[in-house]
This record gives sequence, structure tokens and C-alpha cells, in this order.
Amino acid sequence: MPVVGMGTWRTFNVRGSAPESNACAVVDHALAVRANFFDSSPMYGEAERVLGRALEGRRDAAIVATKVWAGSPAEGRAQIKRAMLFFGGRIDLYQIHNLVSWRDHLPVLEKLKESGQVAAIGATHYSAGAFGDLAGVMRTGRITAVQIPYNPVQREVESTILPLAAELGLGVVVMRPFGEGALMRRVPPETDLKPLAAFGVRSWPQALLKWILSDPRCHVAIPATLNPGRMDENAGAGSPPWFGPDERAYVSRLSGRI
Ligand SMILES: NC(=O)c1ccc[n+]([C@@H]2O[C@H](COP(=O)([O-])OP(=O)(O)OC[C@H]3O[C@@H](n4cnc5c(N)ncnc54)[C@H](OP(=O)(O)O)[C@@H]3O)[C@@H](O)[C@H]2O)c1
Repeated sequence: MPVVGMGTWRTFNVRGSAPESNACAVVDHALAVRANFFDSSPMYGEAERVLGRALEGRRDAAIVATKVWAGSPAEGRAQIKRAMLFFGGRIDLYQIHNLVSWRDHLPVLEKLKESGQVAAIGATHYSAGAFGDLAGVMRTGRITAVQIPYNPVQREVESTILPLAAELGLGVVVMRPFGEGALMRRVPPETDLKPLAAFGVRSWPQALLKWILSDPRCHVAIPATLNPGRMDENAGAGSPPWFGPDERAYVSRLSGRI
């Protein structure tokens, strides 16, 4: 069953007691509504540390996906060492961020998988220009998940990445479900959402998340938020009934109008 999780880019790159408490409150809400998949990266400044702190004493309740984002093996090893300290010595999904130096990092992650410190290995890219390279890494058979952008106005993954992921049986994590917030700047009127009420959709963010998770090739969507209450709203999109082709087309049309 697909799930709503959360991202930490920008939102968790904070320092100081008030913003870190707020991040902790976002995690509280996420765990309370079983949105327990958390994505981070050393690229996101303080985010891994802040997430690790928010998970202290409840690490087992979370699925932690982070990344290695390093131009050299030594820097990659240092990042992994830090992440292991933040996340209790194990990472559920270790991803190679933007495919940076993937040939160097993959054997290191494979060793950690053998020793049980990493449960699964993945690769991410945000840019359609790199999807050919991402497909090449998928075909090596050495990763079991990819993270890609997908929403009604950014659909490049439909041509190669999603069909290939389905063929290879790979997990798909969807970044930028709200187009980095752009899809949230103008919201369709409530009356336009009425045809989706039978699918449990009460708001525009829920319509967008359900649009993603109703594609059986997608497994996790990771919206980011600074607002703890929005985790409750977002998680509301993570259960059936799922949209069929008509509802997905309808949400795409609404997205095109905003
Ligand atoms: N691997 C990569 O290359 C890569 C690249 C980009 C992103 N990512 C991952 O994907 C995650 C998500 O992508 P993203 O952060 O770029 O953008 P996003 O999740 O598409 O959009 C985030 C924006 O949506 C708003 N939002 C969230 N829930 C909302 C709700 N219920 N109602 C209204 N607004 C809502 C947030 O504002 P508020 O804070 O005000 O709620 C925030 O500004 C990142 O955090 C990161 O973990 C990975």
C-alpha cells in the first residue's frame, strides 16, 4: 500500500531551539498519522541532524531515507559516518543523491547492506536531463529504489523511469509532489474538488498526493512542510479509494488551470 511520508529539504535546515522544536512537532504529527517515511540528505544543511534529534527515543517508529552527496569516496564515508550517528547506526534507504560519483559510493553502500547497517540502496535525480543515466543505474540491478519528481505538471518520468521501475520491481519515492510549493500558490475553488469527495479528498494538497499515489508504480510521496498540522492533512491522502484514470485526468486539468 502506498504511503505519504515527508521531505526535509529547506524545512529542516534550521538551527536553534524554536525552529528545531517546530521540526520536532512536524515529526510528532507525522508519526501520529503513520506518515513515518522521512527523507533527508547531507545536501540539506542541518536537516539530517534536526531529523535525527526529532527521532531520538523513537527511531524504530521511523523509516529513514537519506543520501550520500559527495564528490569523493572520503567525503562520502564522512557523510555516512555522521548519518549513522544521527540515525542510531542504521539507515533504511541509503540513496545516491543526484547520482553524484555513484560508481564510488555504490560499493560502500553495498558493504553496509551486507553488514546490516543499510536495509536498501537507491538513487535520486531531480532533472529529466539525467533520467537516461538514472535508467542506466536502475538497469545495473544494484539498487532497489529510485527517487524522482512527479506531479500533474511535471511528468517526464512517465516515458522511461516509471515503466522501467515497474518492470524491474523497484520502489519509487516521489519528490516535489507540490512542485516545490508552486502547485499550492493558487488553489482551485472548493466546488471543483466536490467530484473527488467520494475518494476521501477534502483539499487540493490531498488531491495532488492522491493523484501520485493512485499510480501503482509510485510507493511513497514526500511533501515537505514547516506546519505540523499539514502533516495530518497530507497523510489523509494515503489511503484508498484510489483514483482511476478519469479522476487523475480531472486533477491534471485542474492543475493546468492554476
Ligand atoms: N533528491 C533530490 O534531488 C530532491 C530534490 C528536491 C526535493 N527532494 C525531496 O523531496 C521533498 C519534497 O520536495 P520539495 O520540498 O521540493 O517540495 P514540495 O513538497 O513539492 O512542496 C513543499 C511546499 O509545499 C507546501 N506544503 C506542504 N504541505 C502543504 C499543505 N498541506 N498545504 C499547503 N501547502 C503545503 C510547503 O509549505 P509549508 O512549509 O508552508 O507547509 C512547502 O512550501 C524535499 O523536502 C526533499 O526531501 C529531493
